[in-house]
Amino acid sequence: MRKVITYGTYDLLHQGHINLLRRAKALGDYLIVGVTSDSFDRERGKLNVRNNVLERVEAVRKTGYADEIIIEDYIGQKIDDIQRYNVDIFAIGSDWEGKFDYLREFCEVVYLPRTENISSTQLRSEGQKIYRLGIIGSGRIAKRFIPESRHVSGIDLCSVLDPDESQAAAFARQFSLKEYHTDFSRFIRQVDAVYIASPHLTHYRYIKDSLSAGRHVLCEIPLVLSGEEARELYALAESRNLVLLEASKTAHCPAFNHLVTLVKSGVIGEVVDVRASLSKLVEGHLRELDPQQAGGSMTELSPFPLLAIIKLLGKEYTDIQFYSKMKDGIDIFTKGIINYPHAVSSITLGLGVKTEGNLVISGTQGYVYVPAPWWKTEFFEVRYEDQNLNKKYFYTYAGEGLRYELQEFVSMIVGGRLSSHRLRRSESAAIADIIAAYRSKRALTTI
Ligand code: CTP
Repeated sequence: MRKVITYGTYDLLHQGHINLLRRAKALGDYLIVGVTSDSFDRERGKLNVRNNVLERVEAVRKTGYADEIIIEDYIGQKIDDIQRYNVDIFAIGSDWEGKFDYLREFCEVVYLPRTENISSTQLRSEGQKIYRLGIIGSGRIAKRFIPESRHVSGIDLCSVLDPDESQAAAFARQFSLKEYHTDFSRFIRQVDAVYIASPHLTHYRYIKDSLSAGRHVLCEIPLVLSGEEARELYALAESRNLVLLEASKTAHCPAFNHLVTLVKSGVIGEVVDVRASLSKLVEGHLRELDPQQAGGSMTELSPFPLLAIIKLLGKEYTDIQFYSKMKDGIDIFTKGIINYPHAVSSITLGLGVKTEGNLVISGTQGYVYVPAPWWKTEFFEVRYEDQNLNKKYFYTYAGEGLRYELQEFVSMIVGGRLSSHRLRRSESAAIADIIAAYRSKRALTTI
């Protein structure tokens, strides 16, 4: 019996896939089809797949050509599969010509003719409304956002708003945007959704005005500086049936999501302590160091560490204490202790103090160690008393990571989903509550 194997995503199954499977089957007696898992696609940066793995497997099964369907979940799996299933022929479309010649060591490799003028990419763009996205702000994060947005389909990043005309014009020129504006009402008329990357203290107004104008909003962290404002804005979004999402890149990256689900499924027992740190030494006349613009370690750096704590221990904390070292009106260092009925947690932040930026989650059976920079999670290790049981997890953190939050934003708009389980509205508001508690100075000791 001659066994043939082929692989693909098979999203929105089309005639090109069907032709390929028919030709692959004709090469032998038994056809194995490897369908990529959702996490594998996400990990290799393929963020726009529409059908989930079950739907894609079902579509391949229905063609009637596959004798066996397997899931492709990791790089290098093809070599394992070929050996495990005693495969004679590896077949793939001619768009991959030459790319799989390394498999000739293990079996025959055949590149089959690809069907012209059809692809999943094409089908995705045909059926999809393209949302016009405008950026508010033209600073450092906005500049990083543009190249990232090119990895996400379904949006046309077309416009920028900045009150400073020369900056708006330079930004539009640098990134070939169709328009730039200094006037909000003109800007907002031309877009379906906005990404807010302006200074902290402008977020509330821009979010409120954008939602009031009927636009979906993706807003940089911290969303706002008080839970009350956050809840008011989320309620406004809900009442207008609009998406409002806090742009927390960590919340949306694959590794952090997996870490949260692993810990919640009990791999380290009951969580008793979460310690999250983040420091970034900055100098000069930057917004981060300006008290007039709500600068400081807490407003600038706390959203990621607080995300880890709220995600893992919840919102029902019992007590908060802060310890800060101040300089020129801002906290250049803050340590926060957040206690829960059965657990404790701490954040350590520094704009003028350097510290190890790791995340350690301690439980009754083991702990999770995520080395710096943990907020761009690529790797973590689950460790036990018996070191033989330790397990390391590796992931791709693509580019600057901003594509993950944008992908979720677009998917929420397209699917009419107002809440993301990766960062629930109530969790985002709880983070803002803690920032407000800090800013009230009630629980603050200066050192
Ligand atoms: N294929 C083909 N003819 C097409 C499209 C795909 O023969 N017009 C083949 C690919 O070469 C591969 C298999 O179908 O062997 C699965 O490809 P997949 O990547 O799932 O399909 P695409 O339509 O190319 O997907 P995308 O546009 O997302 O890259």
